[in-house]
Amino acid sequence: MTDPRVLRGPLLSFLEDPGDQDQPAPGSLLYLEDGAIWLDHGHIRAIGDYTQMAPNLPSGIETVDYTGKLMMPGFIDSHVHYVQLDIMASYGRQLLDWLNDYTFPEECRFAEREHAEQVAEIFLDELMRVGTTTAQVFCTSHPVSVESFFVAAHRRGLRMLAGKVLMDRNAPEALTDTALGGIRDSEALIADWHGKDRLGYSLTPRFAPTSTRQQLDAAGSLLRSAPDLHLQTHLSENRGEIEWVAELFPEAHDYLNVYERFGLVGPRSTFAHSIHLTPEARTRLAEAGANAAFCPTSNLFLGSGLFDRLACNNAGLTFSLASDIGGGTDLCGLGTLKAAYQVGQLLGQPLTAWQGFYHLTLGNARALHLDAHIGCLREGAEADIVVLDPEATPLLARRTARTKTLGELLFALMMLGDDRTIFETWAGGKRQHRRDASL
Ligand code: GUN
Ligand code: ZN
Repeated sequence: MTDPRVLRGPLLSFLEDPGDQDQPAPGSLLYLEDGAIWLDHGHIRAIGDYTQMAPNLPSGIETVDYTGKLMMPGFIDSHVHYVQLDIMASYGRQLLDWLNDYTFPEECRFAEREHAEQVAEIFLDELMRVGTTTAQVFCTSHPVSVESFFVAAHRRGLRMLAGKVLMDRNAPEALTDTALGGIRDSEALIADWHGKDRLGYSLTPRFAPTSTRQQLDAAGSLLRSAPDLHLQTHLSENRGEIEWVAELFPEAHDYLNVYERFGLVGPRSTFAHSIHLTPEARTRLAEAGANAAFCPTSNLFLGSGLFDRLACNNAGLTFSLASDIGGGTDLCGLGTLKAAYQVGQLLGQPLTAWQGFYHLTLGNARALHLDAHIGCLREGAEADIVVLDPEATPLLARRTARTKTLGELLFALMMLGDDRTIFETWAGGKRQHRRDASL
């Protein structure tokens, strides 16, 4: 499956942040109408214009023709709960009720290995179907949920980050660990999985209300002892949540300060949501080099609020894009882009297609410190590629036929595209998904 081959067709890859103007900054992207990507042992051996590369390609090498399609780096989801796949679209609550009524009961099921293994496979099948080749993933507090996920991702040769949820209070007994037991379990999982081929471990305190000070403190110590670990948690998503944190941690001057006090705010830390923040808190996050995960479909679904992307830019705070399934309503990165555009419109800061696709690929790779491996189609990078079909449906074909520029095409894909638009997904140099030919 990882035999050398060439993927030929139109391709687009960002090399830098294209900026917020209508046109991308000069030199910020590579676009080739007749491009070629030479895959070899899971990596990109060479990339360029097909006619220029052709004389240097091995004779008889298999060439896959994607004329009329568009190749891009595989999409990246910076924050998603695989264990919430089956409670997407559970009606009618804001965050804290939604957690108690739907999320926690569902997560209890992941004590069972068989269930965890089954959902991990289905989740990864779905990720491939939507063109997402890397994600930073919440499991549950059960170590077996993490093991099942890593086993499945490893078998497929994927680059993934994941971690065991730490939560030692304010949740059903079946989900709570203990302050130090949770850390010990995390250490064992780190020993087994962190750095194994393309897998990495992300320390995962759920959010401040479900961990004691002792647990947060132990998580901080672990992070200090292994600074190449990632960390993922939630921050300032919902007003009720913020008030609860203020009651639970009166010594902290704001929600972010809870995490700061325990040394959890660092360059590899992702803070999902980060909606209701003061400019000063955004600056503190920026100074720590942390990233805020913008989860637009989740924020709209749970009525959490509107993420202020420009305020992040002004503070120098990196943001990433994320589905936050099951709070989110669309696993596909194209759906995330559409909702991000709509949230931006409500704040008078519409997202350009250049910004959108940059963030879904290189931007997210940079935010997660994975850009040495993924996010860009370049020589030496890992061969994670999504092939988009601008003619995926009759309506999309009609609309994209009218586009005159690459910018217009990208915008139509971002607003009208969905999982049907994902023609193929390659990861680790293997074809992992091909859209049902009957579509
Ligand atoms: N805050 C704490 N846990 C969760 C979760 O599972 N989903 C969301 N959206 N927010 C959270
Ligand atoms: Zn989340």
